[in-house]
Amino acid sequence: MRIDVVTIFPQYLEPLGLSLIGRARESGLLDVRVHDLREYAVDRHRTVDDTPYGGGAGMVMRPEPWGSALDELVAGAGPGSPGPRLVVPTPGGRRFDQRLAADLALEPWLAFACGRYEGIDRRVLDEASAAMAVDEVSLGDYVLGGGEAAALVIIEAVARLVPGVIGNTDSLLEESHADGLLEYPVFTKPARWRRRDVPAVLLSGNHAAIARWRRAESLRRTATVRPDLLAQLDPAACDPADLELLAAHGWVPGPDGRFSSVEPAVSD
Ligand code: 6GU
Repeated sequence: MRIDVVTIFPQYLEPLGLSLIGRARESGLLDVRVHDLREYAVDRHRTVDDTPYGGGAGMVMRPEPWGSALDELVAGAGPGSPGPRLVVPTPGGRRFDQRLAADLALEPWLAFACGRYEGIDRRVLDEASAAMAVDEVSLGDYVLGGGEAAALVIIEAVARLVPGVIGNTDSLLEESHADGLLEYPVFTKPARWRRRDVPAVLLSGNHAAIARWRRAESLRRTATVRPDLLAQLDPAACDPADLELLAAHGWVPGPDGRFSSVEPAVSD
């Protein structure tokens, strides 16, 4: 997968040389290229922002440097070959989640446009939409100083789903959010630490019992910490033991075929 990042702070992306992504780059699985937006500025001071039309606080990124930077990316694709899918990190975008990460991981080429200040002149994204798919993406309901930290997050979530980037692909299936539930708790040696014992079932060697315990812990944790995720869960994907545990936490399948919350049958 090729990944281009356009930013006024290229050094912000230096962590992409480390760890999983750094190794994937060295092995040729990822081709990451970071571009300094100021290289595309037209004036002597390499200005990339200006005051907003209509007034208001802050500054807006001017369209010309962005237009030139994105034109150059698309031109690099060669005539007739498709350009990148453009991801624009912004608190005004659609919510980033594991499903979008998996979708982006299927692309051969992603580009990230990292805005600063109050954002990028709207015409840039309108214009880019004619040449490539554009996704405005938000990490959550809070405001960052710019798109760079968000691009790092999105790239990490996407890159680890690219085949070959992670050695043990089982971990992709078992982790939080892969099945719409939070992960069960994990333990390693020693079996007793500061008078705290690892749950006995995990030492039992009974694989069916271990799988059942882990599933129950996932459901319990999700019901407690992220009830919004249970409302997304398909009751048809639950076995009788799941349904019993969820009912104990007050979640029963409703007439719409989704879980909804009632008074818990028991408490813990
Ligand atoms: Cl993706 N970008 C910025 N600048 N702020 C954010 C965000 C993204 N997600 C949440 N806040």
